[in-house]
Amino acid sequence: MLARPAALTAADYRDPARLEAERRALFARHWQFVGFTDELSTPGSWLVREIAGEPVLVQDFDGELRALRNVCSHRFARLRAGEAGTDGGPLRCPYHGWTYDRDGVPVGIPGNRECFGLDREGKRALSLKRYELDRVGRFLFVRVMPGGPPLADWLGPQAGLLAALSDGMSAPFSQEAQPWDANWKVGVENVLEVYHVDAVHPDSFRTVVDGSWRVVPSGPHSVGYAGIRPEALRWWEGAGKRLGLMPVDALADVEGYVHLLLFPNLAIGVTAGRMMSVQTLEPTGPDSFTLRYRLCLANAREGASKAAMAAVTSHLAALNSQLLAEDRAVCAAVGAGLRHVDGAALLGVNEDRIRHFHDIIQGQMADTIP
Ligand code: FES
Ligand SMILES: [Fe+2]
Repeated sequence: MLARPAALTAADYRDPARLEAERRALFARHWQFVGFTDELSTPGSWLVREIAGEPVLVQDFDGELRALRNVCSHRFARLRAGEAGTDGGPLRCPYHGWTYDRDGVPVGIPGNRECFGLDREGKRALSLKRYELDRVGRFLFVRVMPGGPPLADWLGPQAGLLAALSDGMSAPFSQEAQPWDANWKVGVENVLEVYHVDAVHPDSFRTVVDGSWRVVPSGPHSVGYAGIRPEALRWWEGAGKRLGLMPVDALADVEGYVHLLLFPNLAIGVTAGRMMSVQTLEPTGPDSFTLRYRLCLANAREGASKAAMAAVTSHLAALNSQLLAEDRAVCAAVGAGLRHVDGAALLGVNEDRIRHFHDIIQGQMADTIP
């Protein structure tokens, strides 16, 4: 028999204690993609993400980005409400107006002398918790638990691909965050194989990729390669010519679809070197996660027709929405099914990339959990 049972059992997908352990062992310990630097390019712009249960605020302070805990040191109000903003101004708590500098020190405390009497040292002791922040090109990452390898080491050979994508791709033309009803691992596993494409995506993804599939592990990460169907390649060549899209150099010898999983939950798909989809799958509970996606086109020649660009991007955004709706429904079906079983799934050799994902998870969990 070619198939083997998966390393994870159904309980690993629905047990709340298991999710907490994964938050510590996988999400807190490893670099998490939070967004593109373009999203934080105006003074005072900010975004908020939950990473391993920590409320992380990434904030621009006059051109310098910092990651701080989004909780005021006074009486613990949230500092920034919502997910992102571009006109934040100074970092000021909405409750009593304490303001913080880039080091997270509360430098402005209304009525300090009369009410608190905090000197420099006293203020410094009340600094916001700070997290590590690093980037590859425009890809911005935060790590909640300090002390692991630098970002470039963690990404290994994939750092170069990320840098090339960062240079070669323009700002997102479509993005959204969606709630999905399944454990985050169900979502990741779904993007690690193309076995489901015939059954789930007969009119969407199947029109783009052919049946071929090759997987190359890359440390904890992995890369999958699929061929593109001739009609889809012709479409991309036509669109590329019309808009003057410049395919990403690093992928010049890959005439197809490349899919990168950066462990544990960042998935980047590149089609014909001309479009990039960036997805994070962020757990919100044992049987729910947020899927956050961004779609970007390769840099286009100056003066490309706005109407042609709008036609291409709206076609691609609609195709992506259809694809995600199909995957979302099937992941919810798996989430529902997992409530009724105890054993492990059966993985065929065409699902080896899932096996690799499970092996890395199990190794990391064993490393950190006594
Ligand atoms: S809780 Fe933030 S200033 Fe009081
Ligand atoms: Fe899919």
